[in-house]
Amino acid sequence: MPDAAGLTSEQADVLSAGLAALRDLPWRRTRDPWAVLVSEVMLQQTQVARVVPRYERFLERWPTPAACAAAPLGDVLTEWQGLGYPRRARHLWSAARACVEHHGGELPHDLGGLLALPGVGAYTARAVLAFALEQPVGVVDTNIARVLARRDGRRLTPTAAQSAADAWVPADRSWEWNQVLMDLGARRCRPVPDCDGCPVTCRWRADGWPAPDPALGSAGVSRRQAPFEGSDRQLRGLVLAAVAEGRAAAAVVERSIAERGVEEDRVAAVVESLVADGLVVRGADGVLAHP
Ligand code: ADE
Repeated sequence: MPDAAGLTSEQADVLSAGLAALRDLPWRRTRDPWAVLVSEVMLQQTQVARVVPRYERFLERWPTPAACAAAPLGDVLTEWQGLGYPRRARHLWSAARACVEHHGGELPHDLGGLLALPGVGAYTARAVLAFALEQPVGVVDTNIARVLARRDGRRLTPTAAQSAADAWVPADRSWEWNQVLMDLGARRCRPVPDCDGCPVTCRWRADGWPAPDPALGSAGVSRRQAPFEGSDRQLRGLVLAAVAEGRAAAAVVERSIAERGVEEDRVAAVVESLVADGLVVRGADGVLAHP
């Protein structure tokens, strides 16, 4: 039964427990859609503690889509150094340019417009709607998908998870609700859950945690990553770092990385993948640079 504020007792309990423990994070102090987009893109594949200083620095440098759109892509890629997955930086820069070209320098305020931006998927678009515009949509990342599946006591397809999330959002508390669920999923409803005192009315828990865990194989944006050491991702980072330091001769980059015991063919393939992704250009003189 809803209370005077229109909340079910479960919603009221989740909110009051969650708000009391809500982490203070810089992107939770703003409702600026651009700032929220920057934070969400950074957080897609990088841990919170590593994102905090980089988020602040990025926004000091480019506080608006127009500022970012006016910068050379190479500057944005260089600023992104160390965060990994640099295609995100190119997408963010392209999204900033799309905002300038098509939306008067603002982020669009509707799901369709956000989804049409480069690099913005179902999760990120809804995160902007909920965390900047306070619209009543459910945000479903891996952590929240775990909460939803366990609460329903069944595996959820992406569509079912999104519907369950949308149906559970208290209409005028969307910002708080989604931030609270994010922390609940990240800190309590972990792969090995800490159910003691959990405010969620959870089917899986009520049934005595039967195997398999309904969260296994459930929907949600996955943040799980392949090992970094020895990966192509690491090699891509090494090449980009060399390019960010200055224009670098392809042969020199390839040789210096090959000297670490990496086969030259693999280095060459990684350089080609960076060229194909538009993150590096190879000049006629064989010199690599940012576009
Ligand atoms: N990861 C993605 N979005 C987040 C947010 N708003 N707070 C904490 N972690 C997040």
